[in-house]
Amino acid sequence: MEHLSRQELEVIHEIPLYRAFVEKWAQVESFQARPDDLLISTYPKSGTTWISEIVDMIYNDGDEGKCKRDAIFNRVPFMEMSCPELLSGTEQLAMMPSPRLVKTHLPVQLLPVSFWEQDCKMIYLARNAKDVAVSYYHFYLMAKMHPDPGTWDEFLGKFMAGKVAYGSWYDHVKGWWEKKKAYRILYMFYEDMKKDPKREIEKVLQFLGKDLKEEVVNKILHHTSFQEMKKNPTANYEMMPVWAMDHSVSPFMRKGMAGDWKNYFTVAQNEIFDAHYKEQMTGSTFRCQMEI
Ligand code: A3P
Repeated sequence: MEHLSRQELEVIHEIPLYRAFVEKWAQVESFQARPDDLLISTYPKSGTTWISEIVDMIYNDGDEGKCKRDAIFNRVPFMEMSCPELLSGTEQLAMMPSPRLVKTHLPVQLLPVSFWEQDCKMIYLARNAKDVAVSYYHFYLMAKMHPDPGTWDEFLGKFMAGKVAYGSWYDHVKGWWEKKKAYRILYMFYEDMKKDPKREIEKVLQFLGKDLKEEVVNKILHHTSFQEMKKNPTANYEMMPVWAMDHSVSPFMRKGMAGDWKNYFTVAQNEIFDAHYKEQMTGSTFRCQMEI
C-alpha cells in the first residue's frame, strides 16, 4: 500500500479529493440513502470522531461494551471512502442493517441526492477555521493519503485557498449553514461541545427524539471525553494500519482543545488570516468562536 502514500489530490466537481475516492465516484453519486439513516457531516478535523462516538453511544443506550464492538470507522462508515483492496464506504454501508450511521465530509453540493429525497436527519458539526487548519496540518503529516503538507506556513496558504482535501472550509460551513433552513439538519459547534458537552448531548437526544436517563447521559459524557477517547483503541484510530496513519508522527487524538491555534499562528499569519476570513464570510450569518 506504500504506493498510495503522498499522492497528489485530484479534482472532482471543483473539489480537491483523494485519487482513490475520485476513481469510485460513481458509487458515491448513486448511493442509496434510507429514510432512517443518520448522516454525520463535517469538514475534516472538526470533531467528526467525537460526535460519531456520542451518537453511537446514544444508539446503544449508553452501553460502552457495545460501542467497543468495532473501530469507529466500521461502526460509522465513511461514505465516500475508497481504497484499493478494501471495501469502499458505500459497499460497507450497503451491507449494514438499519438504522445506519453514515459519515461524510462532502460539501453540501456533492452530497448524493438520495439523502435529500429521503429527507434523512443530519448532524453537521463545525469547528473554528483556525483550529481546523492546525489540526489538519498535523493530520496531513501523520495520514499518508495526503500530499506532503510542506511547512506550516505553506499549508496555511493552501488551506485558505481551499487547495486541501475537501476544498474550502469557508464554502463548506456556509453551504451547510444555508441548507439547514430547508432540511432536518442539527447544526452544532465543536466549541459549544467543549464548553458544555452535556447540554450538546441533550440537543442531539432531542433531535433524535430519544430520552435517556440522566445516569446514562453521564455515562455517555464520560465515555466520550477526550481523555477516554484518546485511550480507547476503537475510537482513537490506532486500529488503522500504520502505513495509513502514523501516530508516532502526531497522534490522531492530538490535543482536543479550542484555541490551540494560538500556539501556531504568528501575529502576521493571524492578521492575514483574519482579513481573508472577513472577506470569505461577508454576507453569511454563520458565526463561530475562535476560542472559549
Ligand atoms: P486536534 O488535532 O485539534 O486535537 P476529526 O474526528 O473530525 O478528524 O477531528 C479530529 C479532532 O477532534 C482532533 O483535534 C481530535 O483531537 C479532536 N477530538 C476527537 N475526540 C475529541 C473529544 N472527545 N473531545 C475533544 N476533541 C476531540
